[in-house]
Amino acid sequence: MVAAMSKAAEPRVAWVLTGSGHYLKECMEIVKGLSGVDLFLSEAAGEVLKMYGYDLAKLKDGMKVYRDNTASSVPVTFLYGGDYHTVVIGPASSNTVAKCVAGISDTLATNIYAQAGKCRIPSIVFACDTAPALISEAPGGDVWVYPRPIDLENVGKLAKFEQTTVVLSVEELQIALDQRLGCPSTSSS
Ligand SMILES: Cc1cc2nc3c(=O)[nH]c(=O)nc-3n(C[C@H](O)[C@H](O)[C@H](O)COP(=O)(O)O)c2cc1C
Repeated sequence: MVAAMSKAAEPRVAWVLTGSGHYLKECMEIVKGLSGVDLFLSEAAGEVLKMYGYDLAKLKDGMKVYRDNTASSVPVTFLYGGDYHTVVIGPASSNTVAKCVAGISDTLATNIYAQAGKCRIPSIVFACDTAPALISEAPGGDVWVYPRPIDLENVGKLAKFEQTTVVLSVEELQIALDQRLGCPSTSSS
């Protein structure tokens, strides 16, 4: 990793959005209430946000928004500069969770998670697959979703990873975030 980097004055939250529509609105509400936060979008997140009515140009007014448009996930270098004390991936799609469990880092979302681990920056992951059956808000209205055993297994596996807190509800997410904001060191170890 190239980045040599002076420590940022006030570390922030790196909030990663994936292509999960489930819990997107709830996560965006929390993001809006935070003062020190930057957004990192997977390619799918860039598409899905628009489908759920979010205007990326407006989001950029209030915070930095990094899109997934480089092969090497250039924005991950900021993690090495001490710019972020916490990574939140919320909502985390089945795809991103599966890749994180497999140690794959080929998108901005999965790269932020992998590089956060290598920098010992704690990550909070709000998985979209929270139960064997759930109602999800699709762009056209509510739909039933039945996460597969492999999806739920992956969520359970990720919860055992170091520097990682997996949360399964908005309430758990808020508690985990409050804990980090109350004690924002760059490492939980
Ligand atoms: C409208 C819409 C909503 C979606 N919602 C979900 C979702 O709730 N959970 C999920 O795992 N995938 C969802 N997907 C599929 C993901 O976007 C897709 O798997 C994508 O490859 C995820 O990429 P990412 O993990 O890099 O963000 C949705 C797709 C669309 C078009």
